[in-house]
Amino acid sequence: MEKKLTFLGIETSCDETAASIVQENLDGSAKVLSSIVSSQIKEHEKFGGIVPELAARSHVENIEFIISKALKDAKVNFDQIDGVAATAGPGLIVCLTVGLNIGKAIAGFAEKPFVAVNHLEGHALSPALNNKIKFPYLLLLISGGHSQYLIVNDVNDYKQIGTTIDDALGEAFDKTAKMLNLGYPGGPAVEKFAKQGDKNFYKLPQPIINKAGCNLSFAGLKTAVLIQSKKIKDNKKLKFNLAASFQETINKILKKKTKVAFQEFNELTKKKNNIFVVAGGVAANQSIRKSLKDLAEENNFKPIFSEIEFCGDNAAMIAWAGIQRYKKRLLNDLNVEPKSRWPLDKEAQYMKGPGLKL
Ligand code: KG4
Ligand code: ZN
Repeated sequence: MEKKLTFLGIETSCDETAASIVQENLDGSAKVLSSIVSSQIKEHEKFGGIVPELAARSHVENIEFIISKALKDAKVNFDQIDGVAATAGPGLIVCLTVGLNIGKAIAGFAEKPFVAVNHLEGHALSPALNNKIKFPYLLLLISGGHSQYLIVNDVNDYKQIGTTIDDALGEAFDKTAKMLNLGYPGGPAVEKFAKQGDKNFYKLPQPIINKAGCNLSFAGLKTAVLIQSKKIKDNKKLKFNLAASFQETINKILKKKTKVAFQEFNELTKKKNNIFVVAGGVAANQSIRKSLKDLAEENNFKPIFSEIEFCGDNAAMIAWAGIQRYKKRLLNDLNVEPKSRWPLDKEAQYMKGPGLKL
């Protein structure tokens, strides 16, 4: 008889300490029994960014409590779980090690299967926590460390069709917030202040907009924001205008590049399944959600977004990816090591660095 699968997920790749219990129903849908996320915003706020050693120490201090709370809230014990999944990369090694080691220890002592999850696969599959989605689908993954268009053919089967050649989109939001002194974390701050500004006030560059397929670039935009931010000093109105104009420029870039990605997806998949999924921390931005939703509908794609609570880093997406890999027998030994770099598409060309020709 088929049985519901229940997994413990653990996530410590960056500045969120998270644990979750997720169950897969017999119809393949997900039930999140608990999802605990402890953000370290307070600890990193005064530095305006993440300090790796501080983040790692904070994971060590919190992880046991967070895992116990996830089990308690879900009302399950170790005997009732079918496996343990922990993020093994990409990310800061000192941080990854904390969650990975405790995950391996629990799996070892409880004699449960263990899955080392790619954090990006967690984001890529996260919209399925609230939606039934059929493969293949086009994915835009926009987070603090990555900005990519991928064709998700199946679990563990990804084709990258576009990526950033310099900064990630979340990074561009964070740096803009820092330059304008809007607060940390940057993305939500820029979104909040953009609402009070004139989005057409500044004309900002849209790098590589008419070339390089659906690859992305944000460095030139960041430099333009830096130049303008130095001119406006503490003028609030202009600050808000610059935040609004930055966000509007991002929307224009994403619209143009997503259209290119739609075409490539259609050509490569022979229009099998027109689904457009958006995931990652930046997918929480309401203005980006609205603009991409409209674009998808105009182009006969069904738009699906991660729920806001599963856009940013969380462990429910790790538990879910763990269940999906377990079903394909993609299990790991307990000697698996963390990886700082771990692309979803192993064949994809590395796009950063000097000498890049577009
Ligand atoms: O996925 P995530 O939590 O962590 C990584 O895997 O990187 O993404 C974090 C990024 C940060 O750069 C943060 O500023 C950005 O997502 N972000 C946002 C918003 N909320 C978070 N960017 C724009 N608008 C938002 N509302
Ligand atoms: Zn993430």
